Amino acid sequence: MVSKRAPSIRTSILLLTLALTRSSHARVPKYKPISRSCGVASPSTELQDSHRWLQHNEALDNDLWNASSVQQRHIEHHHHGSHPFGESLSSSNASESDRRRQALPSPSPLYVVDTYIHIVADSSSASASSPKYVTDTMISQQFAYLAHAYTNASIGYRLLGISRSTNDTWAANGDDAGMKRALRRGTYSSLNIYYQSLLQAGANTPGIPAGSTLLGFCSLPAAGVTSGGTTGGGSISGGSTGVGNTTPGTGTPTPPNSRYILDGCNVLSGTMPGGNMVGYNLGGTTAHEVGHWNGLLHTFNGNSCAQDDFGDYVADTPQEMTSTNRCPVYKDSCPSSGVSSTTYNGGPGQTGANPYGPQGYSGPDPIHNFMDYSDDVCYQGFTPGQGARMLNIWQIYREGL
Ligand SMILES: *[C@@H]1O[C@H](CO)[C@@H](O)[C@H](O)[C@H]1NC(C)=O
Ligand SMILES: *[C@@H]1O[C@H](CO)[C@@H](O)[C@H](O)[C@H]1NC(C)=O
Ligand SMILES: *[C@@H]1O[C@H](CO)[C@@H](O)[C@H](O)[C@H]1NC(C)=O
Ligand SMILES: *[C@@H]1O[C@H](CO)[C@@H](O)[C@H](O)[C@H]1NC(C)=O
Ligand SMILES: [Zn+2]
Repeated sequence: MVSKRAPSIRTSILLLTLALTRSSHARVPKYKPISRSCGVASPSTELQDSHRWLQHNEALDNDLWNASSVQQRHIEHHHHGSHPFGESLSSSNASESDRRRQALPSPSPLYVVDTYIHIVADSSSASASSPKYVTDTMISQQFAYLAHAYTNASIGYRLLGISRSTNDTWAANGDDAGMKRALRRGTYSSLNIYYQSLLQAGANTPGIPAGSTLLGFCSLPAAGVTSGGTTGGGSISGGSTGVGNTTPGTGTPTPPNSRYILDGCNVLSGTMPGGNMVGYNLGGTTAHEVGHWNGLLHTFNGNSCAQDDFGDYVADTPQEMTSTNRCPVYKDSCPSSGVSSTTYNGGPGQTGANPYGPQGYSGPDPIHNFMDYSDDVCYQGFTPGQGARMLNIWQIYREGL
């Protein structure tokens, strides 16, 4: 549902109207399965610029395990001058993580994310006797799935707290800000995941008809949300609002975290391992949503095969025109885009008019990638390019904040 531009209200109404019209006619495929739906906002121009800069500047071999190369790109990015809080970060020294990574046979994470899990149940699923009750086992299995999903990307997660609440309004995404004001913990670099029993589309998921089932949504990283002390300078509620605006606002002084109180991931609790969302109940939704929190876009971002379309801005996820439903044996929605991974160099000769190699690698759609819409059994992992991208995004947007 996500494209580069948030659909206008008119488009949303049109979509809703189509949905209503269709359901009253016999043209709908009879047994249309539930498909994955994610309500992440469209990326801000600022975030897209960072992705574009990184796609151009990351090593083309996507050498994820080369920490010195990650650090070097990070420093260059800050010298590039587009981020307000670069200086304190660029003075950090990569030698410690370099040493750890080279000394250990299995990779230890380059950074560890403080994580808080909030179980938000409606009154009918709040008691242990309810079939929709989220057990402690489900929580630990979900956390293990998350940690495993990010091992190759060298990102660790440390579970610092679990809360349980019962609130029919919160469980149904009826007061996102109120829920997060009550429950959010940590700082901007802390991950908060809210597992809601009745998560559905609402005012905070533009482009998706209100009330439709949503497996999750998450905030993308935004620049400038921890700086400044007055309201009016930006909000992280939508990726395309005034984030990245470092001009002080004119409103009343507010505590810093009011700028990012909405930051975090909302996930339907039925998607946890053993949950009731058949096809999507192995824990993959959390891996997908947290990918957005770490800055990744859908592999089908842009929904086009156009030569100048950057898609997800990651070279080693082949361009994709459509999202994937369930787990097709083979899918190639952009059969003639990109160049082979062995010859890709991002040069102008390979990519028409665009010098940065927007299309990246050729090949079938990345249907096993966490950032596609495939079902949980289909999910396998992130690419090295996505891993490197998350490390760089972390250093630019969240580290130390
Ligand atoms: C790491 O990457 C940088 C830049 O891509 C390269 O110059 C360096 O040789 C690499 N180091 C190792 C140990 O591979
Ligand atoms: C990083 O730290 C090590 C040891 O503290 C030091 O020898 C090295 O010069 C530092 N490198 C940079 C680039 O600051
Ligand atoms: C439940 O949510 C509503 C709406 O945000 C709020 O007013 C109320 O205080 C919450 N109840 C509890 C027990 O937290
Ligand atoms: C991690 O990388 C290994 C080696 O490339 C691969 O076999 C495995 O499937 C990957 N796991 C995940 C969760 O990405
Ligand atoms: Zn998504």
